[in-house]
This record gives sequence, structure tokens and C-alpha cells, in this order.
Amino acid sequence: MSEAPTLDAPVAEEPVLPPAPRMPALLGALSFVASRRRTVRRLTAEYGRCVRIRVPVFGDSILVADPALAKQIFTTSPEVLHNIQPNLSRLLGKGSVFGLEGTAHRRRRKLLTPPFHGKSISGYERIVEEETLREVASWPDGEQFETLEPMMRITLNVILRAVFGAEGEELQQLRELLPKWVTLGSRLSVLPTPKHPAAPWSPWARLASYRRTYEGLIDKLIAAARRDPDFADRADVLSLFLRSTYDDGTAMSRGDIGDELLAILAAGHETTASTLGWAFERISRHPQVLERLVAEAATEDNTYRQATIFEVQRNRTVIDFAGRHVAAPVYELGPWRIPQGFSIMVSLLQLHSDPEVYPDPERFDPQRFLEEKPNTFSWVPFGGGTRRCVGAAFANMELDVVLRTVLRHFVIQTTDAPGEKVHSRGVAFTPKKGGRVVVYRRPVARGA
Ligand code: HEM
Repeated sequence: MSEAPTLDAPVAEEPVLPPAPRMPALLGALSFVASRRRTVRRLTAEYGRCVRIRVPVFGDSILVADPALAKQIFTTSPEVLHNIQPNLSRLLGKGSVFGLEGTAHRRRRKLLTPPFHGKSISGYERIVEEETLREVASWPDGEQFETLEPMMRITLNVILRAVFGAEGEELQQLRELLPKWVTLGSRLSVLPTPKHPAAPWSPWARLASYRRTYEGLIDKLIAAARRDPDFADRADVLSLFLRSTYDDGTAMSRGDIGDELLAILAAGHETTASTLGWAFERISRHPQVLERLVAEAATEDNTYRQATIFEVQRNRTVIDFAGRHVAAPVYELGPWRIPQGFSIMVSLLQLHSDPEVYPDPERFDPQRFLEEKPNTFSWVPFGGGTRRCVGAAFANMELDVVLRTVLRHFVIQTTDAPGEKVHSRGVAFTPKKGGRVVVYRRPVARGA
């Protein structure tokens, strides 16, 4: 259990830290790297829902698995808590939301919000449906296959079309370049940056050459968008960036546009695909859930599908942490006083496994979200507060449309095979065997 501070009031500003595991720091760090999820589960069970640990790359860190503390962290001023350091911006460019803080972050979020909300999103549904139909056209009948890779292609193509506004040759080139670049970038993001110029054969040099190719392609896309006689009506996010300005009338710089598009892709591609892979893995193992989904997919309703999406994201959380960096001299977190420079890691996974909030948390049961909408601070697959995922509504639409389309066109065979194990793919945690299913094409698609 957590040790609360004693009644002897500590001297102001003196750190008061949560308990640390009684093991050599190096061993704790190695165990975290080797098996992050298991280590966090074990530590929070043994030492309480707020634990101190030293983590390679992130340094002195506080693990938080307590809903009340998570709420406090997500509602703390962004001046006090910055984004975790290092984050994706280290490799993908400092000009995206990941690398911005304070006013610069707020201004950028204001620019990013319109394309990822309400009306704009429903405009992208057609692209998601088209990409899904294109991908499933080659699915085999009656043979087991992995859904994860097809889902990766769908979510990549959706982002390239809806966000980058790419078509034709540029679309094809980006399709080939980006997955390998983002995968390499995410792997390198947890390693220290080399102090000397990268050797030509090193992965860092490969990363730099991917960047040069990428910037050339973005230049071409910007030129094509501006040349388009319908530029003023184009709905892709790149065109919205090119047309919009900050409150002071200035526009996003060319460098920032490249960084932001890349960040959106890195943040939104594998995460959404992994969630879809898990959705197929889960529903093929729960015949009653599948039956209700199939019946509903023949209608325009999506109440049960939405509850299922919420439950997949809780029961198989693909991003396990939302991280912050203490920027203020001291951060008062519940009874603790955390010094400047510490990392704070909110364990989204542990919050989703809390038996006090989710009775029998291992059980997959969409019913949990039929009567009650998810709670902002205990259902947190998209993190929380001012840094909450900017693409949450977009991702939710994508999950809904892909599932609906597949359910309408295929019979998914149920299985009593044990659930797939969890595997770290780079950005997200995926089903280890790729979310394998057997499907049969329906002679006539159901529903609209
Ligand atoms: C199921 C799919 C997704 C999951 C689980 C997910 C999860 C997350 C999480 C946990 C964060 C960090 C939040 C925090 O620190 O509190 C985040 C940030 C972010 N996500 Fe997502 N995401 C998904 C899809 C998307 C999509 C589709 C996009 C864009 C189209 C996107 C764009 C972003 C961006 C730009 C940020 C950084 C926000 C900032 O720092 O202000 N994500 N996401």
C-alpha cells in the first residue's frame, strides 16, 4: 500500500515521493523495459496506485494508476505539466503538437480542432467505407487470416487521403515510405539520440533519408492543392491547414505543416488499426456480442456497436500510458510533492483494469457501456485534458464505419480459441497473432 506522508508536516517545497520498489534501480528499470505491462501491474499491486520508479530514457518517474490522481493530472494547468520528454517530436519534428507547449500548443490545437470535429468528420466517412471495401475485396473465404495488416492499410490510406489529400503517384509513394519510416522512428524514439553525426549505414541515417523523400512529397502535395481550382472547397486537412490562420493572422509555416501531418499519421495510423485488430479478435470470441452486432448492422442504428468499441478500447487498451513532465518547481499530486524534471506516467491500462470501476475487469462485456456513457477520467484510451487525443472523434468514426462495413459484407466465424496475447508493435500494443479470423462473404450485403 502507498505510504502517506506523516503528520510531521514536511518543509515547504521539499519533495515527498511515493514508495519505490525495494529492488536495485537497475533491476527495476530492466524489468520495465523487458515487460512494461507486467511490471506496472505488479508494482501497483504491491506498492499502491502511485509508485516511483527509474525508467530508461524517461528518468525518475511516477507511475499513476489511481483514478482520482489521474483526474488531477489531466486537469492540471499545462504550464505546470508539460508533455513527457522525450516524445514523438524528437524524431518526427519539433513543429507538431507533440513538441509544442503553453501558448504555442494551445494555438495549434485551435487550428487542429475544426478538421477533426463534427461536420468535417462525417465528410470523411465515405473515404473510410471506400477504403474498407477496396481492402476486403481480396479477403479469402473460409481461410484464417490476420486482420491487423489489412487494417493497417485501411487506416494508412484513410489518413493519406483525408488528411494529406494525397492521390495518384504521391499517394503511392507515401504509402510505401511512411509505414517503414514511422516504425523505425518509434523504435528509435526510446533510444538516446547519438551525439555524433550518424554513420551512413546507421538507422539514424536511414531516418534522415526518409525525411528528405517525405519533404519532397509534401512540397508536391502543397503545390497540387494550391493549383486545384476547387482549393477553397477541398476538405482534406492539408488544405484546411493551408487556408487557416492563427488568431494573429499568421499561417502555419511549411516546416510545421510537414511535422504536423507526420505526427497525425504516427499517432493515428497504427493506434486505430490495432484497435480494429483487437475488435475482430474480441468479437470472434464472443458469439452473443457478434450476434447482436450483426443484427444491428442491418439497420442504421449503432448503439451496440458504439458500446462494443468503447469496451474493446477498455479491455484491449492499445496505448498504455499518457505521459507528462513536471515543469513547475514542485507538483503537488494528491499527498505527494513531485520535484521538477520528474516524468509522470498515467497508466491508462491500469485505470481500465480497476475492479472498483469495472467489476470483473478481464471480462469483455459491451453491456458496461450500454446503460452508461464512459467516464472522462476512468475510460481514457485517448488520454485526457489539454493533450487528449486530437483525433479521438475521427478514430471513433473510423472504427465504427470499418466494423459496420465488414459486418454487412461478411459472416465472421466464432472461435473458442484462447484470446491472443498482447504484442508491442512499435507505437501500439496489438494482438500477437494479428487478430486472426475466418470469414465468409455474404451473398448479398446486409443493410444500406
Ligand atoms: C484508436 C485510435 C487512437 C488512440 C487509442 C489514440 C490515443 C492517443 C493518446 C493516448 C494520446 C495522448 C493523450 C495524452 O497525452 O493525454 C494521443 C494523442 C494524440 N493523438 Fe491519438 N489516438 C488514436 C487515434 C488518433 C487519430 C486517428 C489521430 C489523427 C487523425 C490522432 C492524433 C493525435 C495527436 C495529434 C495527438 C497529440 C495531441 C497533443 O499532444 O495535443 N490520434 N492519442
